Amino acid sequence: RKPVTINTLQSLYRKNEPITMITAHDFPSAHVADQAGMDMVLVGDSLAMVALGMEDTSEVLMEEMLLHCRSVARATKAAFTVGDLPMGSYEISPSQALESSIRLVKEGRVKSVKLEGGIEMAPTISKITRAGIPVLAHIGLTPQRQNSLGGFRVQGKNTASAIKLLNDAYAVQEAGAFAVVLEAVPAEVAALVTKKLSIPTIGIGAGNGCSGQVLVQIDMLGNFPPGRFLPKFVKQFGNVWGESLRAIQQYKDEVKSGAYPAAEHTYPMPKDEFSEFER
Ligand code: KIV
Ligand code: NA
Repeated sequence: RKPVTINTLQSLYRKNEPITMITAHDFPSAHVADQAGMDMVLVGDSLAMVALGMEDTSEVLMEEMLLHCRSVARATKAAFTVGDLPMGSYEISPSQALESSIRLVKEGRVKSVKLEGGIEMAPTISKITRAGIPVLAHIGLTPQRQNSLGGFRVQGKNTASAIKLLNDAYAVQEAGAFAVVLEAVPAEVAALVTKKLSIPTIGIGAGNGCSGQVLVQIDMLGNFPPGRFLPKFVKQFGNVWGESLRAIQQYKDEVKSGAYPAAEHTYPMPKDEFSEFER
């Protein structure tokens, strides 16, 4: 498979072919996403919760993002990689954002960065893109701002907030973002925003009228213990947790019963050598 570039994404968009994106947080999760043919792999700061057990994404540090980005980059041969700018690494000034973006590219080895925010982030997006680093914008539900949004709530649900969403989308496009993530937005609003823009929209909880889709890998694989809350938009395409649990329990049982390791898992020694050793 040929490496996906900004041009590949452009051509998918022009052909109206949906762009596929998934998160990864380490070498194996990136490897499988790349092999499965994803167009884009995102090292999302959602890894704070799904891979590091943190309460929310605001806790994850730049150093931690860099470690995870590097691991993902090593496994991703074809998909276009995106690294999330963690909270606190880009809001202070466009220069701070550019410095952090350069770290994600140089040390994290990702090809582009993602940041949350619309109109207010436009100068920042243009600063980063003018330095030659592609920016994926993220508007609608922006989890890093959950405290000011009053939690994880659908955005653009009334006329005023749908207009705000559209204005944010125009602003990030104008600022040079190569695409924009729309999170938790009514499908008809996302579809109309997509129609009006000339850059791809990547939806998560935004219906199928977007130019592409993104999901958190752990969620869509079902790789979490039963009973965990899942947003409405997540479809569980697998039951990786169940399969892992089954395998590890079987391993435990076979060690306890002595069934594992069997002869075929054991290194042989010539009989005469062993009797010599035994004496
Ligand atoms: O952090 C993340 O995984 C994300 C995607 C859900 C878009 O930002
Ligand atoms: Na994120």
